[in-house]
Amino acid sequence: MTLPATPTREFITGLPKAELHLHLEGTLEPELKLRLAERNGIDIGQSTVEEIRATYAFDSLASFLAVYYPAMEVLQTADDFYELADAYLARAAADGVRHVEMFFDPQAHTSRGVPFEAVVTGYHRAAAEAPTKHGVDAHLILCFLRDMSAESAAETLEASVPFADRILGVGLDSDERGNPPEKFAGVFARARELGYRLTMHCDIDQEGSIDNIRTVLDRIGVDRVDHGTNVVEDPALVDVVRERGLGLTCCPVSNSFVTDEMKATEIAALLRSGVRVTVNSDDPAYFGGYVADNYVALVEAAGLTTEEVVTLAANSFEASWLGDAERAEYLAEIDRYVAGHEAPSS
Ligand code: ADE
Ligand code: ZN
Repeated sequence: MTLPATPTREFITGLPKAELHLHLEGTLEPELKLRLAERNGIDIGQSTVEEIRATYAFDSLASFLAVYYPAMEVLQTADDFYELADAYLARAAADGVRHVEMFFDPQAHTSRGVPFEAVVTGYHRAAAEAPTKHGVDAHLILCFLRDMSAESAAETLEASVPFADRILGVGLDSDERGNPPEKFAGVFARARELGYRLTMHCDIDQEGSIDNIRTVLDRIGVDRVDHGTNVVEDPALVDVVRERGLGLTCCPVSNSFVTDEMKATEIAALLRSGVRVTVNSDDPAYFGGYVADNYVALVEAAGLTTEEVVTLAANSFEASWLGDAERAEYLAEIDRYVAGHEAPSS
């Protein structure tokens, strides 16, 4: 039995997969942004979808973040956060996502007076309903904003403790420039003590990318690395990532917005060298591609085979923070899906 050599979009969409690098605030589509702005009486400066999209001309992480944070003003109540997450989960289900570990940025909301509890309550309600409503198993990862102080991150971590049963792990996002991982070493050590899983962004082509990747591996001791694609420049570090079985959560479409290319060659090289590479959508409402679009873009740019696409999907469950029994069930789901698409060899 053989698989078709080149994967179709239909095959990719139906393939069971996990999404591990997804910012809930980055799923805020222009239509929902306008609706929430009206409901909450907020002037966002644009009044049509076209006007909003016209502001999405990013060429760096900083220029993206400068549009991204102000738009969050429309998110005010637990219901707003619920609607945002519920809309994403419906969209993810349509792309074959079966399990998702979703980032959220509490400081982007608490810093403008929205209570931590409203954020977690709304997002968690959507996550709790997702298995029955959308057929998706959904979990939350609390991200600290690295351009805020370590003290603010520590306060946010303590504020999370009463909600710890609703939070799977912690991450680190926002502007990496001048905000290296060691700034948060103490906060992440405390998060580990609290029982959280750990991940951190090592964004694409940053000043000191390799040093930062080395720090997250050796000093912070993360369980996964978000992006981390620059590791390809240091073969000894690639060996460490491969030997530890650490997942890299790559986001090809997003890469093409914050740098001048999607880094398809680098991502494919890491995959082919046996690193646990996964494909994800990052901020799909801003970069215009949900997870299946990211697989398709990578397949087209790097010439991936159907078998490599299946490996990416399997990696997404292997790199997830699922328990062993659940992980085995999803991997078996992939096996059944693949068996259903094999043609008899001639
Ligand atoms: N916040 C949302 N998306 C991000 C990204 N790609 N890098 C850093 N911070 C982010
Ligand atoms: Zn990200």
